[in-house]
Amino acid sequence: MGSSKVFKYFHLMLLAWLILMIIFFGLPITSFAIERNAGEEIFQNHCSGCHIKGGNIIRRGKTLKLSALKRNGLDNPEVIAEIALKGIGNMDGYEKVLKEGEEQIVAQWIWEQAQNAWIQG
Ligand code: HEC
Repeated sequence: MGSSKVFKYFHLMLLAWLILMIIFFGLPITSFAIERNAGEEIFQNHCSGCHIKGGNIIRRGKTLKLSALKRNGLDNPEVIAEIALKGIGNMDGYEKVLKEGEEQIVAQWIWEQAQNAWIQG
């Protein structure tokens, strides 16, 4: 009797386990996806005017491509976030238009695009 009971509830246990796995792994994946889309949206709204497809329509050498970021010593998301807020050279900062935390999200997105050669943005 004891062991048949275990079998009886085995599929329920399996289901419970599956639901737990979905909660544990699904939520981080979804929130990551949402943040990625948010990054792209912030970029389209505030940066792509001059940095279309990671380029720079004003200063040709100062693009958001990995080679340029490396050459200019800006090859990490923290410093990109700082530029988004404070600006650099003749680029203005966007501290007043970005909401709190958006500079981090967009910087992370830019950094990812740079590493993928801007092929999916
Ligand atoms: C009005 C045009 C314009 C907009 C909009 C703009 N930028 Fe820029 N950006 C520039 C110019 C011009 C430079 C080069 C500045 C310099 O060094 O003199 C630059 C440089 C940069 C650099 C350094 C790139 C390198 O290779 O040296 C980063 C990073 C950057 N911008 C990020 C951003 C982000 C993030 C946004 C959106 C929040 C943004 N920019 C919006 C014009 C713009």
